[in-house]
Amino acid sequence: MSNRTFTIVKPDSVANGNAGKIIARIEAEGFRILAGRMTRLSQAQARGFYAVHAERPFYNDLVAYMTSGPVWVMALERDNAVPHLRAVMGATNPAQAEPGTIRALYGESIERNAIHGSDSNENATIEIAFFFSSGELV
Ligand code: CMP
Repeated sequence: MSNRTFTIVKPDSVANGNAGKIIARIEAEGFRILAGRMTRLSQAQARGFYAVHAERPFYNDLVAYMTSGPVWVMALERDNAVPHLRAVMGATNPAQAEPGTIRALYGESIERNAIHGSDSNENATIEIAFFFSSGELV
């Protein structure tokens, strides 16, 4: 069944000139981009988006990093969207990511790990709605 996920091409990827390669890989994996834009997250957006991690020791650093420069936010569609994107991204820590995955290729550290992808269909719905109205999904 075709379904949706949400991704952020993170500040390290944009700053290092890897955003285009990552978006090309996403397309090559059969995802349709339903909506996308480049933006710079505000403090409030980053804190809200990662609210689930608010009690983690890395939360403040994560918010500082995610607001440090522009990102691409995108809503994506394909069959098995959530697990497929997570497989293509690789493990959270690039040092443990499978060779050839986006994080293995472009991630710098467990924090500066190139890309975010939703971890469930429920969170994909929430995360897409965080950035896009339904009319923007084309
Ligand atoms: P992401 O998939 O966007 O979800 C939460 C983010 O927090 C994660 O990618 C990393 O960027 C960051 N993160 C997760 N675990 C750690 C950690 N142990 N130390 C620092 N940052 C982390």
